[in-house]
Amino acid sequence: MSKLGIFVDRKTLSNSEQLNALIHCRDVAEEMGHSANFLFPVDINKIPKMDALFIRARTDPMNVTYVASRMAEMHGIPVIDDPQSIQICGDKINMYSHLQKKGVSLPKTVFLSKNDLSVERVARLFDDMGSPLIIKEPSTSFSLRVEKVTDIAEFFHVAHRFIKMSDWIVVQQFVQSTYDWRVGVLGGELLYACKYTIPSVTFKIQASVNGHIVYCGVESVPENAVPPHVIQLGIDAAKAIGTGLYGVDIKNNNGDACVIEVNDNPSLESGEDADYPFVYEKIVSHLFAK
Ligand SMILES: Nc1ncnc2c1ncn2[C@@H]1O[C@H](COP(=O)(O)OP(=O)(O)O)[C@@H](O)[C@H]1O
Ligand SMILES: [Mg+2]
Repeated sequence: MSKLGIFVDRKTLSNSEQLNALIHCRDVAEEMGHSANFLFPVDINKIPKMDALFIRARTDPMNVTYVASRMAEMHGIPVIDDPQSIQICGDKINMYSHLQKKGVSLPKTVFLSKNDLSVERVARLFDDMGSPLIIKEPSTSFSLRVEKVTDIAEFFHVAHRFIKMSDWIVVQQFVQSTYDWRVGVLGGELLYACKYTIPSVTFKIQASVNGHIVYCGVESVPENAVPPHVIQLGIDAAKAIGTGLYGVDIKNNNGDACVIEVNDNPSLESGEDADYPFVYEKIVSHLFAK
């Protein structure tokens, strides 16, 4: 019997949807003849005893999940997410650079260093990419440090805040849409697809509005109802990062699709996979096929 380690933390379990998804994952692994073991950060030393590791806790190149992933890799244990994917997806400059190198379609994107922050340079960005512009702090996640700015003063206000955390910021053309496609890819193949509907009070799939967090709606979409070029773009974007599990965010404006982000550790607990009953079977098979 092979042992699957499912790496979780207190935060993962504090949410009932997440908990149900994890229990489902465990049941699937057991039905497939494996044993499933939840591992918390204090159990990190048990990783070498596992035959595969599935990380279901927030990944960050600076936190314990990265150490868990590295540990698995060092012991030759198949792991999702692998350390390279965590590192690439945890830094938007690194992630977009991988996509650009493979010619994956993106909104117009510029990396600005602290020293590039002049009024002339910013004015030129508005001329080249239009208004509004999107500014991202490279280590952002959950839409936390992604802002829309409409003029030079607003640009500097946000840029100064972000540049305290990073030597670089990402500036991007704003792409209008009412929802993001989320294309789930595993091992270079489509795993699931859904729509994240953007709340009307914001432009992001999740935001703090007047002190309240608003979340996107989630709608699973069967493969035959997803535009094929969106699926292909998701696969191409995922392949530019690696061979693991990714959630690719895509905007498809007038049929002109572009990638907004590739996420490692994509969430599966909000009904993303409702039309795809074999997501966990595929993940477990993928881990044990290596
Ligand atoms: N260029 C853009 N144009 C329009 N909306 C964007 C753009 N970039 C990001 N967004 C919106 O902001 C959200 C957060 O951006 P994202 O790059 O995914 O950062 P994070 O890693 O913090 O989630 C996205 O889901 C998308 O809805
Ligand atoms: Mg995102």
